[in-house]
This record gives sequence, C-alpha cells and structure tokens, in this order.
Amino acid sequence: MLTRDIRQQFLDYFAEHGHEIVPSSSVVLPHDDTLLFANAGMNQFKDVFLGTGSRPYRRAASTQKCIRVSGKHNDLEEVGEDTYHHTFFEMLGNWSFDDYGKQEAITMAWQLLTVVWGLEKERLYVTIYEGDAVVPRDDEAEHIWRELTDVDPDHILAFGSKDNFWEMGDTGPCGPCSEIHYDRGEDFNPADGSDCFVNLNCDRFIEIWNLVFIQYSKDSDGALSPLPKKHIDTGLGLERLASILQKVRSNYDIDVFKNIITAIAELSGVPYSEEEGKPHRVIADHVRTLTFAIGDGVQPSNEGRGYVLRRLLRRAARFGRELGVAEPFVFQLVEVVVTEMGEHFPEIVERRETIANVIRREEELFGRTLDKGLELFRQVCTDVQHGDTQQIDGTAAFRLYDTYGFPLDLTVQMATEAGLAVDVAGYEEAMAQQREQSREGQRDAGEIPEENWTIVESLERSEFLGYEELTATAAIAAYILLDDGRAALVLDRTPFYAESGGQTGDHGVIVGQDWHLDVRETQYLGDWIVHLGELVGRLTPDQTVKASVNPEYRQAIAANHTATHMLQAALRQVLGDQVRQEGSLVAPGYLRFDFNYDQKLEPHELERVEKIVNERVRQNLPVNSRRMAYADAISAGATALFGEKYGDEVRVVELPGFSTELCGGTHVVNTGEVGLFIIRQETAAAQGVRRIEALTGGAAWEYFLRQRRSLLAIRDLLSSHGSDEVEKLQKTLGEKQDLAKEVLRLRERLGEGLATDLIKNATRIGEVAIVSHYDPALDRKALLQLADALRAEMERGVVLLATIQNEKPFLILAVTDSLVSKGVKAGQLIGEVAALVDGKGGGKPHLAQAGGNNSAGLELLATRGVELLEKQLQSLL
Ligand code: SER
Repeated sequence: MLTRDIRQQFLDYFAEHGHEIVPSSSVVLPHDDTLLFANAGMNQFKDVFLGTGSRPYRRAASTQKCIRVSGKHNDLEEVGEDTYHHTFFEMLGNWSFDDYGKQEAITMAWQLLTVVWGLEKERLYVTIYEGDAVVPRDDEAEHIWRELTDVDPDHILAFGSKDNFWEMGDTGPCGPCSEIHYDRGEDFNPADGSDCFVNLNCDRFIEIWNLVFIQYSKDSDGALSPLPKKHIDTGLGLERLASILQKVRSNYDIDVFKNIITAIAELSGVPYSEEEGKPHRVIADHVRTLTFAIGDGVQPSNEGRGYVLRRLLRRAARFGRELGVAEPFVFQLVEVVVTEMGEHFPEIVERRETIANVIRREEELFGRTLDKGLELFRQVCTDVQHGDTQQIDGTAAFRLYDTYGFPLDLTVQMATEAGLAVDVAGYEEAMAQQREQSREGQRDAGEIPEENWTIVESLERSEFLGYEELTATAAIAAYILLDDGRAALVLDRTPFYAESGGQTGDHGVIVGQDWHLDVRETQYLGDWIVHLGELVGRLTPDQTVKASVNPEYRQAIAANHTATHMLQAALRQVLGDQVRQEGSLVAPGYLRFDFNYDQKLEPHELERVEKIVNERVRQNLPVNSRRMAYADAISAGATALFGEKYGDEVRVVELPGFSTELCGGTHVVNTGEVGLFIIRQETAAAQGVRRIEALTGGAAWEYFLRQRRSLLAIRDLLSSHGSDEVEKLQKTLGEKQDLAKEVLRLRERLGEGLATDLIKNATRIGEVAIVSHYDPALDRKALLQLADALRAEMERGVVLLATIQNEKPFLILAVTDSLVSKGVKAGQLIGEVAALVDGKGGGKPHLAQAGGNNSAGLELLATRGVELLEKQLQSLL
C-alpha cells in the first residue's frame, strides 16, 4: 500500500463519516504569529476552538503539512538520530467542532486502525491523562476504551501532562489527550520493560495517533480557562503509519522516502544503511522541509522562519560533506520530493524551479566558507581535547558563526558528535559584544587624545557655520600639542562638520600666522568641535586663524549624503514603507546604508532603486533644509531615526515630492550634483539587516570605467566583438565540462589497468585472492569505482582499499559475490583491519567502509592487514 493510498483511505473514511475534507493550510499560518510554522492540523481551526470564528461544517478532516523545528514542538535534535521523527511530516487529522465527543473520536480511530487497516490489537497500546491539581484524571476516556473497544485492558496506561496534555504553543487551545502507540514487536527490538516501552523514546514502541480533547485555552501567564465548547482534534503521523502498514523498519524505508534516500546514495556514492545512514536521513528530512517551506513562500534569511531554513540547509550541507559531496547538491533532490509528493501538493510542482534555485543559491553561499569552517572546527576540537575543559569556548563558536556562517546549533551538534560541549553563554556574550562594538563604531571612529587641554578662552560650545560657509575666521579656544607632531584644536566658530549622524568629519586646513594645521579629522567632544591633524610650524594660540574646509572633499560627502536620502526614499518605494534605517555611513568615497529587511534584494529590485534615484538626479530637485519644531516635522511626514533622541527644534532636509528626513548633515544644493548613482553591492549586515554600498559622481563614473574595461578585456579574451560574450563564455565552460568528463573516462580506464595489475600481484590463499592497495591520491569515489572494477574482474577475492580523507584514514573492503554466497561478510572482515588505523567500520556483506584516526596504521595494511584477512578467511572457508 503506497503512502498516497493510505492518505486517501484516511480521507475517504472520514468523508464517509460526514467530515468535510479540507486542504492543508500553508506551513506559514497567515493570521497567527504565535507559531513560526504550522505544527499541527488543528492550527488552521484555532479560531473555531477559541470561539472567535466558525466554519460552515462541524466535522473536518485533512492531511496537514507540519514543520516542527521551533517553539513548543521541536523535533530537530531527534532527526536522523532515530528513524521516526521529522522536521517536516504529514499529519492526518479529523476534527469535531462541538459535534461528536470522546466516544466517537475513540471508536472511529480504533475501527480504522484495527478493522479497516487490520492492525493487530495485541500490538496496540493506548494512553490516557492521569490528571493533576487543575485538570482531573480522564476517567471518561479510560471507560470508553475499556467498554467500547476491544483493546487489551492491560494495554491502557495513564501518563502525566508531558505526554497526555496537548498544547499548541505557549498560548492557545489545549486539553488532555489519549494516544495510540504501536509495538513493532520483539523481532524489531527484543528489548522491552524498563528502558524500552511506551513513552520511553524507544523506537520499538512508537506513538501513531493522538486524540486531543480540546477544552481549555492557555493564556500568556500559563493559566487555563475553559472554552465555551468542547472539541475533538486528532493527529495521525502519516509516515509512521505507512512504515507500519508497509511492514518496513523505519520511516525512511517507506516509498516516499526511499527514492530520496536512493538519490542521496547515488549523488554521494555512499550506500544507505540504517546503522550508518544518519547523514542520508538528515538530508532526506531537511530537503522535504525546505521544499515545502520555500514552496509556501519562506526564504532563507538571518531571522525568524528564514533563519530556521538557513540552519536546516546548512546542516544538510555539512552532512553532505560527511558523505564526501563538496558541491551544492540538496537542490537536486527537490525534483525527487516533487515526484513523490507533488500529486497531493500541487504548490511544490508549480514552484519547483524557484525552490531549487533558492536552495542552490543558499548552498553556494555556505559552500564558500563551509570547508574553512570545518577546518577551524577540527582545529578547535583538537585544542580542546588536549585541554581539560572538554568545552568549545564561546568566542570560537561565535567565530564559526560570524565568519563561517555556522549556526550555533550546527556547532553544538558537531561538538556533541565529538564528545564535547559548547559554551553557549560565552557565545551569546561574544554576539552581544560585537553588536555593541558595531554600534559604537558607527558613532566615533576617531580618537580624540585624552591628554590635558590647554584652555585659551573658556568655551561652552563651538558654533557650526558649515551649512552656509566653507571658510571662516575664528579664535582658538583650546588645544593640545601631541608628541607625534599632531595637534588638536577647538575653535569658537568653525565651518568644519564634526563626524555625526553617520557623516564623516570634514578635512581642510586651519591657517595661523606662521603655522597651519592639516585637518584630517573633525569630531565632537561634548559640544566642542575638535579639529585634529598634522601641525606645520609653531602654534601661536592667541591670534585669529582662518579655517577652510576642503571643498571637493565636502562636495563628495554632501553628494553621498543627499544620495543616501534618495536611496532610502527609493527603497521605500520598491520594498515598502516598513524600510527603516539601521545604520549609515556617508564618506567622500562611497555611502553605506543599512536597513531592516529579511531577504536579499533581487537584481531587478536593485535596478529599480537605481533607476528611481537616477531619475530624481536628472530632475535636479532642490534640496531644502529648514529648522522647525520636532512635532511639526513629524506631522509633515519627516522620517526620524528610531531610538534617536532629538531636541525640540530639528533640522529637516526635504527633496520636494520625494523625501523628507530629520537630518543634521550637509547636502548638495540640487540633486543634479549627485551626478550618477550606482549600487556597488548589497549584502547582509546582521540578522534581518541588509546593507547597500553605493557610489555617486566621479566615484560612480570610475566604477563604470573599471567595469567597462574588464568587459572589454573579457571580450578580447573570447575574441568576441559584439555582445555575444556571455554566449561564448557559456560555450567555453560547456567545453570545459566535456573535457572534465573525458578526463574522468580516461581515469576510469587507467583504473581498470590498475585493477588488472593489482589482481596480478594479489596475495593468494588457494583460489581466493586478496588485494590491498593504499593511495592517498584517490578520493572516496575513485576508491569505490576501483573496488567495483576489482570485484567485477576477480573470481573469488577480497579487496582492501585505503586512502586519506579529511586528513584521516578511510578504508573500503569489498568481497566478490562468490565469497558472499559462502558466508563471507565485508562488514565483519573490516572490523579487525580497521583497528590497525584506530577505526571502526561496517556495511553490507559485499561492501563495507571504515574511518580511522591513526594514519600511521595505513602502512600496515599491506602486511598485517592482509595477514588478518587471511586468518579470518581461513576460519570462514
Ligand atoms: N494537535 C494534536 C497533535 O498535534 C493532534 O492533532 O498531536
């Protein structure tokens, strides 16, 4: 019975019992922000349960796309470890909205399982709620089970709230529940009793169906209040049920998973087995989640749902590396998921290309740093293993996240596998510290010397003249002469703009009688404006000076500042009004603008932003600034920075019909002075924050020149004269791929030659040949190929091949079919040999693999290893 048949039979059964068959909701619930993802079929009926909504029917059934990776129901840690938890699964369910009660819910479930599907009742156990101080024991359910079904009375068990009180999330509908568990039997796992039984996380006894009696609503204080009406909410895991009805050992062996697993084995060249197949399982699980979540419109990002997807994909990629796959591959599995499940979920069929593209882009992104990160991780592990804490410190975990993109849970998982812990508190501290630093970094990049000031004339605040003037005469109020020839001056009045609001301080010169100061930095110190730079000559502090701002420098900054306002206005037009500034840098050479947004901007969005800004540049709008009361400015629609403090009176910079912002910076007079606006790059700045770097005026022109020069050089290299460079390049790359294939083919042929040689030189005992070969230049795939070639050419033989992979020994042991039929098992033979390299291994009778820890042992394989094999074979044959 295929999974799709089981799904259909469930829906048919409840349709026959008067249920409306409803489609699954999206995995993103449109009107519920208490959940990141749909975690149960009942989510879409939350309003009905709470009494705030209704439906035209009182009975419903569905199969629901569920994702359990966050919040109250999170199965991520179990995925791959066991064979029946998933981050994505289908939940069959039936509901009664104040229609039938416990009795019908229980008897219908029992009938469907035992009569329609014929499950043996000796194998079924049911549980009921044992009660606590607030909610009484569910005697009613127990009574129904005893009197109205033929369940074995000894198989009725009572449990507490952890197992038998179901809650949707931290708040919302909830109630006691009654679960049905299935015992896969002694053959599956002979253990039972104290550590293997119902609700002990033992895979012999698995929960299949949960009947929830929704009666309460939980509020944010954790208090329960009774609902106006009572309801039924049941959930039956489709994949688990299929594994039982298909009589296979695990969810991963059912039809819908089998082809995904096979595809993973084919892509990686590593066969799947239950014992060693954790990577296969994790990848197979995660690709389903990714496919359905992206199909429902979620994009990988640094926040919320998007970050959940990013984490899953990065875990999958890392497990891919464990199987020796170095290229993006998860995206290729989307097709298999679509083939298996598209029939019932047309949305993934429709969006299959987008889904694969999104995954591929993410894989490429992470692929760039994954190997480096793994290297760092191994190094950190070695260091830690030699120390005595057995804990990876927080800064290392943070570095893995910040530089190499390793989500914390991935690092924790890898650490656990290596028998180590991670200092999570330290990680969070490092994260907080970095946030603080980047905030401060934006405020003051400079260093005003801490030495004592010589006060010439006491001054409360420097008067800033720079909105109107670029030069001014002034008096020195205070100064410091530094040892290195620099000096810091405070003037009573100055045209120099001090760094603030993201705008870089002005450069220029302050000229005295026989001296001048080359100003390289201008900063605020309280209300003083400090000019810092190289002092030429001897300072005479008591005379009037002339302060002049470098006009080109200022002009470049002003153009970038005006362009920053234009960029923000354009982003709001393209991405929506929710775009808020998160940080900004206005320098003479470029501008940088950070804003809240979850996703990478598409090329067409960036082009639209550029287009809008450049159109406004060409319109040559006036840039008006005026001072007004804060309240007036806000009601005139000015954008203020969130969290920033403003005085009662503020300065407003306005580009009529386009942008109005509170701003203390300096601007050009007309937008035409911006000249040209080009976005140089768009990247992630932090979680949920994007960063745009852009160029204006001369810098933009030079950027364009550089691009054109490289384009011309590329055309030249490709001997392309028109605009066919892309086509030509594609062709060249295609040819390169063909050549690579050719090389591969030739290598295979060489391999065949090698196989013949190895067989010639094999050790023989009677008719059995033992081949042993170690070559660090061969990778895992080549090794497998060689093993295949040898198996094919040998009549009776055992093949032991070894290489170094990720700096560790890796062994393959293959046995010809003729010996397998005599009872020789590769999985057994490899054990003793693997011990020579401090390793462990296992596998199928004809092929086994082992990883080791001691490369020195590799040299012993040809001698000691072959002896060990000889000995074992002699005792077997
Ligand atoms: N809501 C319950 C569960 O998820 C039954 O559907 O287990």
